[in-house]
Amino acid sequence: PSALAGRSFLKELDFTREEFRGLVELAAELKAAKKAGSETQHLRGRNIALIFEKTSTRTRCAFEVAAADQGASTTFLDPSASQIGHKESVKDTARVLGRMYDGIEYRGDSQAKVEELAAHAGVPVFNGLTDDWHPTQMLADVLTMTEHCAKPLEEIAFAYLGDARFNMGNSYLVTGALLGMDVRIVAPRSYWPAEEIVAHARKLAEISGARVTLTEEVAEGVRGADFVATDVWVSMGEPKEVWGERIAALSPYAVTTDVLRATGNPDVRFLHCLPAFHDLGTEVGRRIHAEYGLDSLEVTDEVFESEHSVVFDEAENRLHTIKAVMVATLGR
Ligand code: CP
Ligand code: NVA
Repeated sequence: PSALAGRSFLKELDFTREEFRGLVELAAELKAAKKAGSETQHLRGRNIALIFEKTSTRTRCAFEVAAADQGASTTFLDPSASQIGHKESVKDTARVLGRMYDGIEYRGDSQAKVEELAAHAGVPVFNGLTDDWHPTQMLADVLTMTEHCAKPLEEIAFAYLGDARFNMGNSYLVTGALLGMDVRIVAPRSYWPAEEIVAHARKLAEISGARVTLTEEVAEGVRGADFVATDVWVSMGEPKEVWGERIAALSPYAVTTDVLRATGNPDVRFLHCLPAFHDLGTEVGRRIHAEYGLDSLEVTDEVFESEHSVVFDEAENRLHTIKAVMVATLGR
């Protein structure tokens, strides 16, 4: 049995560097097996509940396809159609679902809720995104980095530009620190991760040898980077009134061709967890375009569609890495 059998996957800080790397390696093996048509099913007869209190394309589909590939079945629970959070507490829900399911995925706002679910379910719980952390996304991003950069992880430099106080910024900082990477957070100071998270990252870096940089200077922050990453400036659950202040504060941190050039690395790659506002042709995008007259937000269409962009490899890797989490924790 795997060393992670029976464990939950709630945040990066709960894992050692070896455990985290082990999951990425398992994902690479599962990906290769699927491509070769030689995948072995380790989850036959398992049942997985998928609770989504926020919307999702990639995470939900990755869990469903990964489970199907591995012989497990899933139940999608949309809270508008279940009792969760309205009539029934997280603790009671955990104890009910834990009697029926072998594993539970949860996406919502508070980290405390997913932790409480895990404390009472008696089965592994997987964090499919909270306001604080997006740990399954980190596995996909690290797998993507290993596929697109020949250097050992400890030599890879990546810069995250944008709102770093939320799930993606927090997760990148801690993951880079855990794995001994050269991680740079590039944002206005008021958008840096909370002091407590920075302190955790610095402590991890002492052990792993990671270089941790927080800076407001774009040119300094991206110099020599192998990867440049960003995320939306307004996350799910935030009020639309904050768009104006975010655009004002974060526009200098948009990933443009000039930013990629400033890395000095002709092979630099661009990462984004998606969805991305690279053109404003979507429903929300059209509203922002009308109100602010912009053509893109956190990344230009030129960068998004360029040969530097590996965002669809990254999206595909959500499948293989989420599969690895389920196989490692629930596999027979
Ligand atoms: N990157 C990501 O989590 O995408 P979804 O919100 O579509 O799941
Ligand atoms: N920070 C974004 C990530 C989406 C995958 C959000 O929380 O909406």
